[in-house]
Amino acid sequence: SDIRIAVLVGSLRNDSFNGQLARAMAKLAPDGLVLEQVRFDDLPHYNQDDDGRPTEPVRRFKTQLAAAQGVVFVTPEYNRSIPGVLKNAIDHGSRPYGQSVWAGKPAGVLGISVGAMGTSMAQQHLRNILAYLDMPTLGQPEVYLQQKHGFFTDAGDIAADDTKQFLQKWLETYAARVREHNDRTIVKT
Ligand code: FNR
Repeated sequence: SDIRIAVLVGSLRNDSFNGQLARAMAKLAPDGLVLEQVRFDDLPHYNQDDDGRPTEPVRRFKTQLAAAQGVVFVTPEYNRSIPGVLKNAIDHGSRPYGQSVWAGKPAGVLGISVGAMGTSMAQQHLRNILAYLDMPTLGQPEVYLQQKHGFFTDAGDIAADDTKQFLQKWLETYAARVREHNDRTIVKT
């Protein structure tokens, strides 16, 4: 059966390059791997006082994440880290203590930036957070992309064949990792 992966895009901007990348990746995904973007723009600022009375967007966000078999983060770099809105969403999913939606879910990290370092620093910060959240995260291949004019076609696809093939390979590697993880995981009844 299909593997369903939640995709979190770290930019809320309408014309986000990371949003375009996430949509292009969903189209490149191999059979059996379904990438679905989960919104978090409607989450309030995380406040521990509200753990016992989550608003509807918080409940929806956690239900969607809980149903996913893995999580792919597609995020820009803001000031050499991840955007605050993404950290806020991660914090929401991690609480109440002991009820994290993240624990054990295989993660993948991608990003595109206008800068030449292609979100590398943000990705390192994010990997640190994911390690703490107990998310086994694909280490190779790493994906550091620089947005230049013509990176995306007008239809929103990735223009360069070699980049497209590289990202397809990444998706296959990630899918295999999620399957291995599922096979190893003992289902408690
Ligand atoms: C940036 N940008 C940026 N780029 C980068 O490579 N390293 C960085 O540390 C930062 N810092 C940063 C902070 C803030 C607040 C903004 C708004 C932008 C530029 C960033 O790569 C560019 O705006 C991308 O277009 C953002 O990604 P989306 O929104 O296109 O997905």
